[in-house]
Amino acid sequence: MAVKTAPKSDRTRIIRRWRKNMDVTDDAAYVDTLTTLSEGSVRRNFNPYTDIDWDSPEFAVLDGDERWILPTTDPIGKHSWYQAQSKERQIEIGMWRQANVAKVGLHFESILIRGLMEYAFWTPNNSPEYRYCLHEAVEECNHTLMFQEMVNRIGADVPGMPRLLKWIQPVIPLVAGPLPIPFWFGILAGEEPIDHTQKNVLREGKALHPIMERVMAIHVAEEARHISFAHEYLRKRVPHLSRVKRFWLSLYVPLTMRLLCSAIIVPPRAFWKEFDIPRSVRKEIFFTSPESRKMLRDMFGDVRMLCKDTGLMNPVAKLIWRICRINGAPSRYRSEPQRQHLVSVA
Ligand SMILES: [Fe+2]
Ligand SMILES: [Fe+2]
Repeated sequence: MAVKTAPKSDRTRIIRRWRKNMDVTDDAAYVDTLTTLSEGSVRRNFNPYTDIDWDSPEFAVLDGDERWILPTTDPIGKHSWYQAQSKERQIEIGMWRQANVAKVGLHFESILIRGLMEYAFWTPNNSPEYRYCLHEAVEECNHTLMFQEMVNRIGADVPGMPRLLKWIQPVIPLVAGPLPIPFWFGILAGEEPIDHTQKNVLREGKALHPIMERVMAIHVAEEARHISFAHEYLRKRVPHLSRVKRFWLSLYVPLTMRLLCSAIIVPPRAFWKEFDIPRSVRKEIFFTSPESRKMLRDMFGDVRMLCKDTGLMNPVAKLIWRICRINGAPSRYRSEPQRQHLVSVA
């Protein structure tokens, strides 16, 4: 059977359009923003081995350290089942959980780094996107070093991402070249929940182990730039997509947010088995309690704002956001704190 391919003129038109999309030098405001972000990366960046004194006595990981107990901003830490466990058990679970979040984070960053390189490979000479993507890749490499060092020090042999995602991850970065817009939304689906969770933990002010505190503070500081870039990138391009493409994208976004967010915040099967946590508790912690629903919704206020502003909120998309249980009001500005009382949302 003959395979139907696009006529040659169409194919060259697609490639021409794709190339033109990568040339951003005529957009002065966008170039300025990227220059500011790149200069920020040069001015303020961290090195995992000179900015964290891993061998200082205060960074030692010792048995029975209650600072590893999960904060109440963590859905597991907040649950009565967890709080009813012995202190030793709470510490053990806390260390495993925090190590695994770091491991998922670094797995996710590894995908992002490969995608950044794939995208940057195709950018034309003089593109400010090339420079910014490389700065971001350097920072993410440092984050993966920092997170892996943290996992090693904690000493829990955690698996990180769910198995299925580990199997499909090699192809995800390849999407960044031909389909950068879906790729960047996928990146936001990972960065927004991690950033939101870390900011909440830091805001809560509970005594944390110094490793956790330092690692999170460094990460939050650099992540602000990364999230800014993803937003700027999408704001520049999404409004110019055809209506049909925008429609499909509007359905893809909430589904991706929900799926990737679950992969990141819900611990893998090994966790529930290791600590023999009842199924009912597991369901309640992440899916059915009003607190967990609010947490899910709050994570994506900024993405809802981005979708609203770029024409990705239509009645069908809104329904998908609702089915995925991440619907709600869009943020009024980026990183707007979600202060509403629980009852008003439940
Ligand atoms: Fe990172
Ligand atoms: Fe990042």
